[in-house]
Amino acid sequence: MMATQSSALLPPGRAGARVDEFGERARLCGIYDRDGAPVYHDLSVGDAHEIQEIVRAVRAIPGQVLDLAAGSGRLTLPLLALGREVTALDLSQDMLDLLAGRLEEAPARLRRRCTLVTADMSRFQLERQFAHVVLGTVSISLLDADARPGLYRSVRSHLLPGGQFLLSTLDRGAASGDSDETVLRVTGASGTPYDLHEYWPSGASSRTVTILPADPPPGPVPVCTGQVGTVGAALAEHELSEAGFEVLDRTELTGGGDRHLVTLLRAVMKR
Ligand SMILES: C[S@@+](CC[C@H](N)C(=O)[O-])C[C@H]1O[C@@H](n2cnc3c(N)ncnc32)[C@H](O)[C@@H]1O
Repeated sequence: MMATQSSALLPPGRAGARVDEFGERARLCGIYDRDGAPVYHDLSVGDAHEIQEIVRAVRAIPGQVLDLAAGSGRLTLPLLALGREVTALDLSQDMLDLLAGRLEEAPARLRRRCTLVTADMSRFQLERQFAHVVLGTVSISLLDADARPGLYRSVRSHLLPGGQFLLSTLDRGAASGDSDETVLRVTGASGTPYDLHEYWPSGASSRTVTILPADPPPGPVPVCTGQVGTVGAALAEHELSEAGFEVLDRTELTGGGDRHLVTLLRAVMKR
C-alpha cells in the first residue's frame, strides 16, 4: 500500500471526474481519518509487502522495536510474533484504534508486549530507547522536507548504541511510462473491490492517491483521498548521512520493471 496524508481535497484527473459524477453523493475523506481508516485497513491488511525483509533484519539483532507510522499494525503484528516488545506509534488515533482492536483478538502474549503511542513521528519523546526503529510502507514520504530533520533527530535520540533504523523509500519505476494516472482494481480483505487511483505526473514532486469503491453503493459514496510527496532512496541516503546516520544495506523490494521502486534502507548511527 501507499502512504498518503490525511487531506480530503477534490482529487485531480480521472478520480476527480468520477467524484464529479457522484455529485452530492460523494463523501470525501482522508485516508487515515475516521471514515478512511477502515478502508485503508481493509486494503492493506493482507499486503505482505516488505514484511519478510523487515522481520529478517529485526531477527538478526535482539531488542525492542519502535514501529513508526504503525497504522493498523500490518508490520506491528509480525514483529510482535517474533517475540519482541513493540511500541507502535502513529498520528492517527483512528488507525491505532484499529490496531487496538486487532490486539484484542490476538493472543495475550502478543498483546502484553505491545505499547500504543499517539504521536507525530517528526517530533516524539518516549522514555525509552530501542534496538530497532522501523518506518515501513514508504511512510517517510508523509513528511515534507521541513519535517524530516525532526524525524531523524527523534530516531537518533531513541536508538540504542548499535541499534538500526530500517526505512523504505519510493522511486518512480520504468513502468510508470508517460501516463499521469494509473488505476488498479484491488480487492480488500473483506472482499470489497476498490479502484485505487494514483495521479503522479512525470517530474511532479507529489502524487494523489484516491480509493473509490469499484461498485458504488446507491447512497453516499465514500471517496478516500490524499496527497503525498515522494522520498527516493538517494534523497533519503543523503539526508540520513547529513543527520549522522550511515546506510549499511540497501535492499530493492520491487523489480526494475515495476511502477514503484521500493528500497529498504538499513542505517546505523555514525561513530
Ligand atoms: C501508509 S500507512 C502505513 C501503516 C502501516 N505501517 C502499514 O504498513 O500498513 C501510513 C501511516 O502513517 C500515519 N502517519 C501519517 N503522518 C504521520 C506522522 N506525522 N506521524 C506519525 N504517523 C503518521 C498514518 O496515520 C498511517 O497510519
